[in-house]
Amino acid sequence: MAAEDVGGERARERALLQAEKMETIGRLTGAIAQQFSELLGAILTRAAALTQSSPPNRDLDDLKETAQRGAELAHKLLGFSRHKALDLQPLSLTEYVREILDTLRRDLPGNIEIQFEADDVGGVVEADPAEVRQILMNLVTNARDAMPKGGTLHVEVRRARLGAADRPLHAWIEPGSYVSVAVSDTGTGMNAATLARVFEPFFTTKALGVGTGLGMAMVYGLVKQHKGFVHLYSETGQGTTAKVYFPAVYRRMPLEAAEENLPGGSEAILLVEDDPTMRSVAQGLLEKVGYRVLAAMNGEQGLATYRAHRAELHLVLTDVIMPKLSGFQLYESIRRESATIKVLFMSGFPAPNYRKTVGLDAAVAFVTKPWTASELLGRVRLLLESSPR
Ligand SMILES: Nc1ncnc2c1ncn2[C@@H]1O[C@H](COP(=O)(O)OP(=O)(O)OP(=O)(O)O)[C@@H](O)[C@H]1O
Ligand SMILES: [Mg+2]
Repeated sequence: MAAEDVGGERARERALLQAEKMETIGRLTGAIAQQFSELLGAILTRAAALTQSSPPNRDLDDLKETAQRGAELAHKLLGFSRHKALDLQPLSLTEYVREILDTLRRDLPGNIEIQFEADDVGGVVEADPAEVRQILMNLVTNARDAMPKGGTLHVEVRRARLGAADRPLHAWIEPGSYVSVAVSDTGTGMNAATLARVFEPFFTTKALGVGTGLGMAMVYGLVKQHKGFVHLYSETGQGTTAKVYFPAVYRRMPLEAAEENLPGGSEAILLVEDDPTMRSVAQGLLEKVGYRVLAAMNGEQGLATYRAHRAELHLVLTDVIMPKLSGFQLYESIRRESATIKVLFMSGFPAPNYRKTVGLDAAVAFVTKPWTASELLGRVRLLLESSPR
């Protein structure tokens, strides 16, 4: 079995286990929340009746308030466990997300810079506007909490096509057209232990009273209910990207069609990526559509490979955050030796210093991780075909 198949197989197994776990937790939570919701409803009704028939009473007011808080908690849990009916309608995500972001802006501290990017033609999805707002709010709140000293919040709306080629990085997807909303921050990031549990209800690393640990559980449940899925990418100390995929309206597309549409070429590409799964998936994908790929597992090796093969290379595809020699440093070294080679950065985070580093270099582009096959290959083709400087 080829390396990328093994990597992909493992990723699929992990995703399946994760999905099964969430399914079980969801069913259990849903059943409990349903019962509690009814009990609290009964308590609130009785309390309301008592208020009507008796003189003002502080204890009674407190009781009502407590029951109300309990009802809200149960409501959130129902959102997670998908026991809630959605009010689905065609929604143009680009406009809607921009609108929500404008209202959320006011609640964010001034030391957080907000960036918004979207495709020119917005994608239409079938979604419940109130729930989309809830999803976005939870993600933005987490991003804010992860950046206590400030940073950059980057929100991106893109149309995306997912096919079998995306399985290794997006296990268990239904092939088709989607619209993705990515919320990235330059905050604390998550370690592997946190990442593994982040969707569990009541899982929180925040102080008592600050977080209830329901934000991501709700995101998971609500996204699932929209027949979408959510993908997290995070590096400790660097930041996090949460990418939510909503199925586009008219998304039915045979798998083969999605595969055929992947743009390829025969140029030689230097691939520099320290994450072995990402590297093997990217390599497998690029080779499948005809490119010749030289892979390097870090910046230093990337530079050495570049120097040994510079005459034949057309493009460098590099990760940004790597130990020792970062993608930006690699770029700077390579630029000193060649003014024209195209460089495509891939990163999970907004790079505030990106423009500072690359200036007005037109032979440079950027693709957000976790990318889809069509996104990556589209960006590679576009950059290769852009006019030389
Ligand atoms: N963008 C992020 N950056 C870093 N860590 C995150 C991020 N998003 C989530 N987490 C981690 O995942 C945990 C669970 O997130 P979740 O939103 O479910 O709960 P919470 O934020 O702790 O509480 P709540 O959302 O209920 O107020 C967080 O406590 C945090 O450790
Ligand atoms: Mg939260």
